[in-house]
Amino acid sequence: MSMVSVVVKRLKPENADVEVLAVPVWQGRPVAEQEGLAALDRRLAGLLRDYIDSGDFVGTRNSTALLRTQGKLKAPRLLLVGLGKPEGFGLDHLRQASASAATAARKLGVATLAMQPPACALERTAMAQAMTEGALLGLYRLRKYKTAPDEENDKDNLHEIQLLAASGEQQELTRGVTRGEILAEAVTLVRDLVNSPGNEITPSYLAETAQALAQQHGLRCTVLRQEELRALQMGCLLGVAQGSAQPPVLIVLEYAPHGATEAPIALVGKGITFDSGGISLKPAANMEDMKMDMAGGAAVLGTLQALAKLRYPRRVVGLVPAAENLPSGHAIKPGDVLRAMSGKTVEVINTDAEGRLILADALAYAVQTFKPACIIDLATLTGAVVIALGHHAIGMMGTSEPLMACLRAAGEQTGERVWPLPLFEEYSKQIKSDIADIKNTGGREAGSIIGGAFLKEFVGDTPWVHLDIAGTAWTREAKPYIPKGATGVGVRLLTEALFNLPSELTTPAA
Ligand code: BES
Ligand code: MN
Ligand code: ZN
Repeated sequence: MSMVSVVVKRLKPENADVEVLAVPVWQGRPVAEQEGLAALDRRLAGLLRDYIDSGDFVGTRNSTALLRTQGKLKAPRLLLVGLGKPEGFGLDHLRQASASAATAARKLGVATLAMQPPACALERTAMAQAMTEGALLGLYRLRKYKTAPDEENDKDNLHEIQLLAASGEQQELTRGVTRGEILAEAVTLVRDLVNSPGNEITPSYLAETAQALAQQHGLRCTVLRQEELRALQMGCLLGVAQGSAQPPVLIVLEYAPHGATEAPIALVGKGITFDSGGISLKPAANMEDMKMDMAGGAAVLGTLQALAKLRYPRRVVGLVPAAENLPSGHAIKPGDVLRAMSGKTVEVINTDAEGRLILADALAYAVQTFKPACIIDLATLTGAVVIALGHHAIGMMGTSEPLMACLRAAGEQTGERVWPLPLFEEYSKQIKSDIADIKNTGGREAGSIIGGAFLKEFVGDTPWVHLDIAGTAWTREAKPYIPKGATGVGVRLLTEALFNLPSELTTPAA
């Protein structure tokens, strides 16, 4: 995938044979008290003490400064990278620092960069993984629609990043780098899918992508098309798609380690390839961003790729219902009643609450076909989750406390944080319909929870968690390892959670 490779080198920083050597700097600590810096400072005849202790470079988070080493180190340039204060320093700060170093090196036009991992109490494998993720994801960009070079980064030569290992830690770091590369590659796939426009990324395109992944990684892919969806009576998925010329699909992507036959873990992702709102049309401002409404589905595909490459030890099945939500003479209308695959009837109050409709059929299909040990769904489901949590946390609802606790912990580890919202039974009253079993919206109050309460109607007794990623799948503001646009959220979170799944969820109650 990426043109940049990350390698571990057992080398002292002064001997790193690269064009730029990046070293971390803690904020508020004199050079003499920073392990890595003090040794370099001796070689550099006090240059660092002079520069840092004078307060010219303070070491604030993600700040960088470039120095020439004048033949005193093998590398001709030293890049100081601020880590901020050591108190509260965590893996996500390291991910950001690594991204800041990598993007600074790219701007310089150099081909090679070495990075010194900071001295701190974090576990070495996790550190190497975070540094690899940060660097590769920070360098991400989508170039395929640009026909002219990028002015700011026109000297894009960076192709090797070395992680410098102390003696005895080479293996630990290498394991982290490998995991980091696999995750960054999967996140890159997701970002490419989510950033690419709706005229290219149609439901059929997502299906082809899933089939290609199956080929490359030994997965099994089944694509249910319109006739099969009709035979299965998936009235909600078909209903949402009927306003568009693009036929809907239900993508099923299965991973099974050799011989595994136990109940799988099901991952379900919303795959609306463009959400205009349908007859309940959205306003024109920023509607172009609604190409991102398949971010949950893309994250499911990316996660399956990562799990296969990491040889995850359990069965996992990914399901992506995909459709385009457009208004037309064929489109569903407010007031229409749809019959879901489960048999439940749904009154459509607002055609813009389409995500829950397509997920209703995918969830029921997952339960019926796979009897999964648990289900996690990811969906850009509600604008209301942005009101509740902003862009800094995924909204989480569900019926399984252990699964929610597992996702909370994985969120802290990966920086893709999740925060719980309640699903008290009172909320379900808000979606009772006068003429059908349920309706697809329940007023302005508790909008995200209402989305969750609707989905809950289709999972039966299966332990289930819903992740509303509407606030976290897309950003208008670049961060060190997240350029503007698609964030690729979900892949790292789900992979981390699945590797730490509580055992009660993998062996379903008899
Ligand atoms: N895809 C949108 C939700 C969304 C909003 C995603 C902002 C990303 C950013 C979803 O289909 C939608 O339109 N939801 C409606 C639900 C409402 C009609 C109950 C919403 O949030 O307004
Ligand atoms: Mn919508
Ligand atoms: Zn939508």
